[in-house]
Amino acid sequence: MAHVTVTAPINIAFIKYWGKRAGGETLILPTNDSFSITLSTEPFRSKTSVVLTDKIAEDELWLNGKKSDFASTARLTNVLETVRATSPPELAKLKAFIVSENNFPTAAGMASSASGYCALASALVRAFQSTADVSVLSRIGSGSACRSAYGGFVKWLMGKEEDGSDCRAVQYVDHTHWPEMQVLCAVLKGEQKDVSSTKGMQLSLQTSPMMKDRIETIVPARMEEISKAVTERNFDKFAEITMIDSDDLQQVCATTIPKVQYATEDSYAMIRLIHAFNKAKGKRVLAYTFDAGANCFMFTLKENIAEVIAVLLHHFPTADESLCFNDTSLVASYKAV
Ligand code: PMV
Repeated sequence: MAHVTVTAPINIAFIKYWGKRAGGETLILPTNDSFSITLSTEPFRSKTSVVLTDKIAEDELWLNGKKSDFASTARLTNVLETVRATSPPELAKLKAFIVSENNFPTAAGMASSASGYCALASALVRAFQSTADVSVLSRIGSGSACRSAYGGFVKWLMGKEEDGSDCRAVQYVDHTHWPEMQVLCAVLKGEQKDVSSTKGMQLSLQTSPMMKDRIETIVPARMEEISKAVTERNFDKFAEITMIDSDDLQQVCATTIPKVQYATEDSYAMIRLIHAFNKAKGKRVLAYTFDAGANCFMFTLKENIAEVIAVLLHHFPTADESLCFNDTSLVASYKAV
């Protein structure tokens, strides 16, 4: 009986993926390139175990201790079908018993689907001895998950082909390129979001007047500019573009019909605090980014980490100890009360 356990990290995009192109809903082909940093597997990670067996009638997935409705989740079914089609027949005929858990809030705009589907894809590929590419398989589960298959700074290139053959994630630079870079997360709201990112981006594409320019000109220009900033380790430029792209995503959501809002009062307070802090410092030393959720991810350099944590904790007091890990994919995290 094959048994595999893997963990996978989250990734945080600073140029956001928001929209699937027509005909690309199943293969998950995006309307624009995106760019992210993959974090270390601590403190946030997904852990997935797979056992192949002939003792159960159907595939089973237990997520965070609850049995999932596997058959009605098309993406899971797609992932499993792709794995089976690329596996030796004697393994493909077995059923998969899958157990997965996240050690942080699920579906709360904290990239749980990225780490979750990447862990699932990686575990299934190993258990079934599949020849499928882990990043491509992760993408079929949840678009942004394809970036979690690589470390460091990762681009997800949209490609042009209808069959998705040129749509792939590539590592831009590895985690040693910018060791001073730190990522922090303020967990402001752990509850599940009301509108899934799938639904949100679908509505935005149909209704937001901002989407056309974003897709055609804004994101391509931003990808170029921020690639240069990453290459040159220019934090000020990186921070400027990161915050603009995050603001744009919120504006796109605000101009979507019906309006989608993921940010809360705490999120806006965090944005104001970060702008005020940068102003006081006379340069950008801290950048925020929000996904489809209220929680705030932040980027800063190592030299500022102590001061940044002190400022954040002063304004958003926490019951928890703050965490800080000493390598590139650093995550300092704290929970606001
Ligand atoms: O992978 P999904 O379908 O959960 O989409 C998430 C998209 C954002 O997190 C909002 C942005 C991104 O590029 O990660």
